[in-house]
Amino acid sequence: MLLRRTLVILASALTQAFVKLAFVALTLVTLDAPMTQAQQANDQARGLGGDPERGRVVFRSVGYCVSCHGWAGDGKSGTNLQAPVGPNLRETELDTEALREVIGCGRPGTPMPYHDRAAYRDGRCFGMELSDFVPGTAPERGKTFSDRDVANVVAYLQTYVIGLGEATYAECAEFYDNPDAYVCSSLQ
Ligand code: HEC
Repeated sequence: MLLRRTLVILASALTQAFVKLAFVALTLVTLDAPMTQAQQANDQARGLGGDPERGRVVFRSVGYCVSCHGWAGDGKSGTNLQAPVGPNLRETELDTEALREVIGCGRPGTPMPYHDRAAYRDGRCFGMELSDFVPGTAPERGKTFSDRDVANVVAYLQTYVIGLGEATYAECAEFYDNPDAYVCSSLQ
C-alpha cells in the first residue's frame, strides 16, 4: 500500500517535472521564433516599403476609411452619409511620415480617428496621453492597426490614391475587385 502511494507520488512528481521542462523548452522555442518574425515585420514597416495590395484591404474593410473618405479617397465617392466627411486624399500633400502620423495618431479635435495600437499611451503621438486632453476633446479612436497595417495603408494611398484626378470606373472595379459593383455603375 505504502509502496504504491510512494510510486504514485513519484510518478506525479516526474510528470510535473516533465511538464515544466516541456513548457520551458516550448517557451524558449516560441520566444525565439516569433521575436525574429516580429522584428522583421517591424523593420519592414519602418522602411519605406509597405504593401499597397494589403493596404487596400485595410482601407476598404479593416479600417472603415471608406465611410468617411469614400472608396476613391476623394471624400465623396461612396461615403457613408451618416459619417463625417473626410477630405479628398487624392489632393493631399502629406509625405510618408506625415501620412503615418495622421493615420496613427488621428487629428485631435477632428473626426479623423487614431489607429496606432500605442497612440496616446507612450508619448509617440505629439507627446500626449489620453488623460492630457480636457474631457470631450480626446481624439477619436479607430480600429487598432499594427505598424505594418499603417505602412501598408500608406503604401496603398501613395500607389492608388494620392495625385490621381477624378475617380474612374476602372479604378472602382479594381477597388471592389468586381466589374459589376453597384457603386461603380454610375461611373460607367
Ligand atoms: C470618422 C471619419 C473618418 C474615418 C473613419 C477616417 N478618416 Fe481620415 N480624416 C477624416 C477627417 C474629417 C479628416 C480631416 C481632419 C482635419 O480636419 O484636419 C481626415 C484626415 C485624413 C488624412 C489627412 C489628409 C490631409 O491632407 O491632411 C489622411 C491621410 C486620412 N484622413 C486617412 C485616413 C485613413 C487611411 C483612414 C482609415 C484607416 C481614415 N482616414 C479614416 C475623417 C475620417
